[in-house]
Amino acid sequence: MLDLTGKTALVTGIANNRSIAWGIAQQLHAAGADLGVTYLPDAKGKMENKVKTLVEPLSPSLFVPCNVQDDAQVSETFQAVKDKWDKLDILVHCLAFANRDDLTGDFSATSRSGWQTALDISAYSLVNLSNAAKPLMTEGGSIVTLTYLGGARVIPNYNVMGIAKAALEMNVRYLASELGGSNIRVNGISAGPIRTLASSAVGGILDMIHHVEEVAPLRRTVTQEEVGKTAAFLCSDLSSGMTGQILYVDSGYNIMGM
Ligand SMILES: NC(=O)c1ccc[n+]([C@@H]2O[C@H](COP(=O)([O-])OP(=O)(O)OC[C@H]3O[C@@H](n4cnc5c(N)ncnc54)[C@H](O)[C@@H]3O)[C@@H](O)[C@H]2O)c1
Repeated sequence: MLDLTGKTALVTGIANNRSIAWGIAQQLHAAGADLGVTYLPDAKGKMENKVKTLVEPLSPSLFVPCNVQDDAQVSETFQAVKDKWDKLDILVHCLAFANRDDLTGDFSATSRSGWQTALDISAYSLVNLSNAAKPLMTEGGSIVTLTYLGGARVIPNYNVMGIAKAALEMNVRYLASELGGSNIRVNGISAGPIRTLASSAVGGILDMIHHVEEVAPLRRTVTQEEVGKTAAFLCSDLSSGMTGQILYVDSGYNIMGM
């Protein structure tokens, strides 16, 4: 049975009710986990208010700002985890960013700063957050991140985010190898295209979704709930023998050649 009672889970990446992280948080909560939620702070506090209202029904024990580009905020986040729980069982890394200009047109036109921004936020952050989580995962743990097929194959317009996802997927393997000795498992979910704030920045996202609906074995795209259920599985003992894996939750799209 999928039971996360007594487990502490830090979930990053909730921006609104379309966020994949929101689907994951709901499933972890339903399985009995005690939640901590981070949000990306902005000057006017809009995101804080929006996310706070959204997550209220899940009664998170922690609600903290964490811009992954700010090392001070990252260490304050994990200090808050230590102060509240003194241990962490689950870390959900569900965030990414690239400049809109870099998610359309010629990949070769990607600027150095655009490349660095995308890789820093979308890939390095998993390394940084895992390093901060490691000393708190004293009873073992599970780290789950979100990736996309564009990190393994060429998808039009995905461009620099594909490079970031390739790096992220390799991060999963290196981290799994290092942390396995401490019984910390690290896995990724490669989700099919879903309409969210982040995906709306990718040129032609609706065409991508329609293509999946036509071609994927299940003839539809996936939902946040379906990704959330797989994340809950990866966070639970039901997947205790799995680490370093990328699981496709994409209606089977990735198996198709044409
Ligand atoms: N939507 C899809 O089609 C799809 C498919 C496969 C994988 N993914 C991945 O799922 C993850 C979540 O994206 P989503 O589609 O739910 O979109 P989303 O816009 O709801 O979530 C992206 C999150 O990243 C956060 N973020 C951006 N910059 C940040 C920073 N500097 N520090 C901290 N947080 C930051 C945003 O606040 C937001 O909460 C991403 O890694 C994305 O690449 C999405």
